Amino acid sequence: MNHTVVILAAGLGTRMRSKHAKVLHRAGGLALVEQVVAAARTLAPFGRIVAVTGYQAELVEELLHPLGIGFVRQQGQKGTGHALASCREAVPHDGLLTVLYGDTPLLTAATLARLRDAQTDSDGAATLITTTLEDPTGYGRILLNDKGDVTAIVEEKACTPEQRKIKLINSGIYCFRSELLWKHIGEIVPNPASGELYLTDMAEILAHHGHRVRPMHVEDATELLGINTRVELAAADRILRSRKNEELMLAGTTIERPETVTIDARVQVGTDTIIEPFARLLGATIIGEDCRIGAGAILENAVLGNGVRVFPYTVIGDSRVDSAAQVGPFARLRMDAHVGHNARVGNFVELKETHLGNGSKSQHLAYLGNAEIGERVNIGAGTITCNYDGQKKHRTTIGDRAFVGSNSTLVAPVEIGEGSYIGAGSVITDGVPADTLALGRARQVVKTGWVKRSTKKD
Ligand code: UD1
Ligand code: CA
Repeated sequence: MNHTVVILAAGLGTRMRSKHAKVLHRAGGLALVEQVVAAARTLAPFGRIVAVTGYQAELVEELLHPLGIGFVRQQGQKGTGHALASCREAVPHDGLLTVLYGDTPLLTAATLARLRDAQTDSDGAATLITTTLEDPTGYGRILLNDKGDVTAIVEEKACTPEQRKIKLINSGIYCFRSELLWKHIGEIVPNPASGELYLTDMAEILAHHGHRVRPMHVEDATELLGINTRVELAAADRILRSRKNEELMLAGTTIERPETVTIDARVQVGTDTIIEPFARLLGATIIGEDCRIGAGAILENAVLGNGVRVFPYTVIGDSRVDSAAQVGPFARLRMDAHVGHNARVGNFVELKETHLGNGSKSQHLAYLGNAEIGERVNIGAGTITCNYDGQKKHRTTIGDRAFVGSNSTLVAPVEIGEGSYIGAGSVITDGVPADTLALGRARQVVKTGWVKRSTKKD
């Protein structure tokens, strides 16, 4: 059967107290609405998913555009009923239509499939997900008749004191028979208190026309958490992180003290890799097998081969480390740095837009920027590529097997040939041919007896 998913994501989210639309806030490494789209994708192809945008519509659409879903702009945020009604022209009027709210990021694919199946098997007009909450504050309450069908949803503000005690709540996730939804949605009238059109009124409208609206109870209420405040955002983040950790652990990754580790949704980690406490693996990071990621390391959009060791407190951004290489502790790789197979980058070494070839080493205290460094090169402690002349960046090229002595200053653009040696403390401003020794420092002067001669006697 035709299945369309509409995600309501037009609201401002006043209770977040933010300049940014609520659905753009992130939990588990994705924007809330991205999490919802990921769940929706398990029900329908991207082409059958429509997001309703409004507040900061351009930003929300820009974020979701690459996925290929459709958009409808809601003109004026006049409530969830108004938001769905704006989709009238954009979606089919047959088959099923599932409505999700963009602020429920914990929803699982399994629950959505169960909702679809419940509605498919039902003769009713809609099925909606309910749960029981010890503290139902803020949620719409579900009223049932003696057959257990939903007769109405009452929003918190409209509840009588008796209704306020009801613990069965509306999750905001509904599966409608499209035809009946579109036939009757125009009957929603503005809420007398807020002036908004509440989608929740559809339950009473459908029931009034003699259609059944069925509740589908979900035991694990955490899945249905709607994010309205930053406190709830933090709670959702914690749950998404622990789900991701569990998924990785079950697939063969060791995570020490998982509650301290932060791994974004899209990160991939190979088997037998060990992740130490307080590591953060962010963005599109991909880690191979048999790696060890040290305590406190931060990797964002990093790609690591197999058997890589990242020692503690290393920061890697938008960079690549090939198999069996070692990086850190306290190293920084950024902007397309590339560490070759079996290479070593040690403490307080920074690589920026630099390729360090296979088996090469830079073990301590160096800045290597805009450099192409060959294989089995040794970079001494304190080496600096002077890549910036105040206006432009220039490149440094170092051939295979070169040996750069400690505290060398390589003034780019400059080329150092294969197998050549640079004496410690050199300032290298001119190219060095292959297999030569270059010294670029003041010659040492030793003045014998100078101290005695220059110390005046009485
Ligand atoms: C809503 C439900 C409530 C339910 C709760 C579950 C209504 C009237 N109430 O309340 O019964 O218990 O969710 O979390 O539906 N949105 C728009 N356009 C608008 C208004 C909202 O797109 O004009 C979007 C928001 O971006 C948000 C979603 O709809 O993603 C829900 O809106 P929100 O204001 O958070 O509804 P709640 O008050 O939480
Ligand atoms: Ca909400």
